[in-house]
Amino acid sequence: MPESEPHVSGVDIELTDVVKRYPGQKKPAVESLSLHIPAGEIVMFVGPSGCGKTTSLKMINRLIEPTSGSIRIGGEDVSRQNDDDLRRRIGYVIQGGSLFPHMTVTQNIALVPGLLGWDKRRTSERVDELLELVGLDPQRYRNRYPRELSGGQQQRVGVARGLAADPPVILMDEPFGAVDPITRQRLQDELLSIQEELRKTIVCVTHDFDEAVKLGDRILILTEGANIAQYDTPEAILANPANRFVADFVGAGAALKQLTLSRVSEIELTQPTVAEIGDPAPDVLRAAKAAGDDSVVVLDRRRRPVDWMWTTDLSEVEKVPAPPEDTDLVTIDRRATLNDALDTMLMSSHGSAVVTGRRDEYLGVVDFQTVLTRIQDGNGHPEAEVAP
Ligand SMILES: Nc1ncnc2c1ncn2[C@@H]1O[C@H](COP(=O)(O)OP(=O)(O)OP(=O)(O)O)[C@@H](O)[C@H]1O
Ligand SMILES: [Mg+2]
Repeated sequence: MPESEPHVSGVDIELTDVVKRYPGQKKPAVESLSLHIPAGEIVMFVGPSGCGKTTSLKMINRLIEPTSGSIRIGGEDVSRQNDDDLRRRIGYVIQGGSLFPHMTVTQNIALVPGLLGWDKRRTSERVDELLELVGLDPQRYRNRYPRELSGGQQQRVGVARGLAADPPVILMDEPFGAVDPITRQRLQDELLSIQEELRKTIVCVTHDFDEAVKLGDRILILTEGANIAQYDTPEAILANPANRFVADFVGAGAALKQLTLSRVSEIELTQPTVAEIGDPAPDVLRAAKAAGDDSVVVLDRRRRPVDWMWTTDLSEVEKVPAPPEDTDLVTIDRRATLNDALDTMLMSSHGSAVVTGRRDEYLGVVDFQTVLTRIQDGNGHPEAEVAP
């Protein structure tokens, strides 16, 4: 997907005949799982409730001990490593972030660096860097307690904590399950953007097949006893479900799900009139009129979109104003799927959505008609991603 050859910081994971039998259970939770997870990829585990997803995941960092079989990470057998070593090499993120309530954001993120004996300065620099990475202003959030954060913000801190010691492997169990759809979408986009830079090996459990298609380089579909129904790329699974079980699981809307395979970056953006805060309003209005636009996207000095003003409001001021404190311009990342884009547009009074790229830089606007045309063409899956 990325334009240039990325630096892969992840390592591969190999499960061989892994079995988990819980005491007192007739059937093993995991009957015999063999699986290769390539370095630097995101692999999504999906399957019905109780099929053994969480059990399989937790055996990778030995939160659960396998009954038999072997698990190798970067070629090394995990059963021969001590727990601290494993925790250093494997980040772990679960639903809701599971932060310690009596610790601040900083203390929560610094847990593993603390375990590793990092000094204060290095730790606090790392905490700030991670907060930026997950889209939280360090100044504002580093000293807060979890109860002073929204669900989505807690989840972000949970992701930051998982990344803290820069582990090559990250395990996630329904990490975005407990947040609203828009926040969930943003967190997914952020994860993809982080992954574009870091190329970790990420194993992520989800019950949401759309999420698996969006995030996964590969999807592992399990049936009861953690038996593999299919293990392949999203494209291959959608095009050729291995059997009836997979077909049912993928669902009747497979054609529409192709929308989940298409990214905003693959379609043409429109370029309405833009202005910077402080620009003379009459000049901006003239430009908008010449272009036939009834609204103007307002950018800050770092070219991040901050507002989307109607020209009628602009005609009442001298200069393009900074947005009011409580404005929350809903933008969409270029990595978002066309499904996400539709959701966002339906919430916007403009019937379209502002698109951002790396570091929230403004790229343009995606409009409803373009997406609709795309759906009607049935051309849900183009060959190449057009990078901005
Ligand atoms: N500690 C335990 N003791 C006994 N049985 C367990 C234990 N944990 C899980 N199980 C059983 O093992 C099977 C697999 O559980 P697991 O939690 O791995 O499923 P899952 O796929 O993650 O499900 P869900 O989607 O509901 O989270 C289930 O039948 C469950 O009841
Ligand atoms: Mg589970």
